[in-house]
Amino acid sequence: MDRLLIRGGRRLHGEVPVSGAKNAALPQLCAALLSAEPVTLLNMPRLQDVSTMLRLLRHMGVGVERSDDGPLRIDAGALHTPEAPYELVKTMRASVLALGPLLARRGAAKVSLPGGCAIGSRPVDQHIKGLTAMGADIAVEHGDMIARLSAGRRRLKGAHIATDMITVTGTENFLMAATLAEGETVLENAAQEPEIADLAEMLIAMGAQIEGHGSSRIRIQGVDRLHGCSHRVVADRIEAGTFLCAVAATGGDVLLRHGRADHLDAVIEKLRAAGADVQAVADGIRVQSPGGAKLKAQGFRTTEYPGFPTDMQAQFMALDCIAQGTATVTETIFENRFMHVDELLRLGARIQVDGKVAVIEGQPRLSGATVMATDLRASACLVIAGLVAEGQTAVERIHHLDRGYDCMEAKLHGIGADIERVQA
Ligand code: EPZ
Repeated sequence: MDRLLIRGGRRLHGEVPVSGAKNAALPQLCAALLSAEPVTLLNMPRLQDVSTMLRLLRHMGVGVERSDDGPLRIDAGALHTPEAPYELVKTMRASVLALGPLLARRGAAKVSLPGGCAIGSRPVDQHIKGLTAMGADIAVEHGDMIARLSAGRRRLKGAHIATDMITVTGTENFLMAATLAEGETVLENAAQEPEIADLAEMLIAMGAQIEGHGSSRIRIQGVDRLHGCSHRVVADRIEAGTFLCAVAATGGDVLLRHGRADHLDAVIEKLRAAGADVQAVADGIRVQSPGGAKLKAQGFRTTEYPGFPTDMQAQFMALDCIAQGTATVTETIFENRFMHVDELLRLGARIQVDGKVAVIEGQPRLSGATVMATDLRASACLVIAGLVAEGQTAVERIHHLDRGYDCMEAKLHGIGADIERVQA
């Protein structure tokens, strides 16, 4: 397993490009299943999860062509196996996003239950509830969801769906399924993340009739078929937020090219309260910071968009570890998303965890050590901590990082970090 070697203490300067969003790219790859015509996706990030999704699409008989660093062309015209097998799903829970499109396009799907992951049990009961309301029968057999249209139905039907809690991929599954359903679908407590709006824009480019995307109420009028399209994947707000926290912690002055400040209001507000200077500029975000030791630790509570994103909790906690004062962090979305805490303690952080609440007491310094990544965003947190810790930090098991960050060490190296990847 590869690891990253980081020598802390460098300030960061220069410009770094923000890639396309992982959590927009994955549903959009599944949305290509809805049409028999080819779809071209631009600004697709180079991530392990994207490679896994492409393997899944090829398994189904979908044509995939990716020129180097160029557009990705997906042709689902010859789709022959509406299935997502366990060996692919177990490494990437977002495979559940194939369920809605396959039901809409083929009236049948066999998708392995994703199972849990490091940060929580990750159930899909709401996905099943909503698609059942749209006229699907979904049975769970031998670890697979076996979905087919209800007796007598030739296509899904529009429904009024209100889930028990806000679910991002649940909203995306319903949105995709509803584009080809008969009649109108209304999603009541829809997720409002920018990736939902970006998916809707792609579907509209394919001929779908959608309104209200980006709000908590989305209305979709089903159509008979969707045509191909060309769509550019929105910039990754979590990658951008991760770099904002890194520069705030190390100190410096960096331009995040393509970053969308309007997708990061809650995080930017906290960074400004801490004492960093964050500005939206033409086609990007500029961050200037005196360094974490001169900033004030900020407490926050993760909530659904537009609140403080759970996917930024670990990264901001790394900043709080070396800022002045004490901060209280509450994780309300996932039940086990503090696994980075034990690793931060190895670096000299002072953190007390009680259930969903972590209290961080900022320290004047951290000291480098070997630490272990446990999940995607915990990995990013440990990289940030390593950038400010004294001496060398080795972050192990960085395959977690590779799932969701496009060449992170190269991007950090490009703005002055002393960081290198060591092959196992
Ligand atoms: C998406 O996961 C993201 N993944 C996650 O990003 C992100 O952390 C999460 O949304 C929350 O913002 C992708 O978009 C691919 P949810 P998702 O359904 O859709 C419960 C990252 O680091 N729930 O919004 O799986 C669930 O347990 C990843 O990039 C049910 O109980 O999350 C959680 O407590 C990690 N039943 C809450 O809802 C369901 O059927 C929100 O989950 C569905 C969800």
